[in-house]
Amino acid sequence: MQEKSVSEAIDFRRSVRVYDPEKTIDQKKVKKCIIQATLSPSSSNMQLWEFHHIISKYEKGKIVKSCFNQPAAKTAEQIVIVVVRKDLWRKRLDSNVTNIKSSLSKIENLDPNLKKKSLRYYNKLVPLLYSDFFGLTSFIKKIYTKVVGLYKPIYREVGSCDLRVVSHKSAALAAQSFMVSMAGIGYDTCPMEGFDSNRIKKDLDLPSKVEISMVIGCGIRKEEGVYGKRFRIPTNEIYYSR
Ligand SMILES: Cc1cc2nc3c(=O)[nH]c(=O)nc-3n(C[C@H](O)[C@H](O)[C@H](O)COP(=O)(O)O)c2cc1C
Repeated sequence: MQEKSVSEAIDFRRSVRVYDPEKTIDQKKVKKCIIQATLSPSSSNMQLWEFHHIISKYEKGKIVKSCFNQPAAKTAEQIVIVVVRKDLWRKRLDSNVTNIKSSLSKIENLDPNLKKKSLRYYNKLVPLLYSDFFGLTSFIKKIYTKVVGLYKPIYREVGSCDLRVVSHKSAALAAQSFMVSMAGIGYDTCPMEGFDSNRIKKDLDLPSKVEISMVIGCGIRKEEGVYGKRFRIPTNEIYYSR
């Protein structure tokens, strides 16, 4: 089958709740869509995400139960779980630093300040953002931004809860890229947040501090698996040009 254009894929994607048990999807192609998803942008390129591809019947059975047996999980042939790994910030930061050191040194005639600036960003600013000492540093950072923000524009999302939102935003972008990539090859998906996150973490043997962004059912749609015509709020209610 010929791959769809981006617009065609976006249009084709629907949340599919019932998949056709007669039609199978290729595990390798799903993995390729996951790799495509990792090309999504992420805040400070921290890539605080993981993708757990559920293929075996046994593992799927556990996840389906943790998703309250909802049909989008139960009838899915495979499941992809997007996990937020804010706890891995130090490791991801180190990878970025290593990459900057090696990749920028290969560029000829590079402004020497650029490398310095990038390294300062990752060595000073990012740790300041992500580190927290029992909520205390988070509180101090919040007070600081409130006071300084009275006099000049300042980045305010510095608390630990803000950083959770920051990490979830990037993970959700990756989830959407994954679903669009799947749609591009005619594969269907359904994003789910209807699950017991503690149980999913146990199912995946993950530490309790990680968070689950989305559980995504994957397969080939049955026509009745698309619940009605797509409904969207009229453009004049959601689009503002200034
Ligand atoms: C973050 C998120 C969580 C969702 N959770 C569920 C869910 O638990 N179960 C489900 O059947 N659909 C779920 N959906 C699918 C939405 O209901 C669906 O996207 C919406 O109705 C629009 O339909 P469409 O995706 O076909 O355009 C979720 C969608 C998003 C983005």
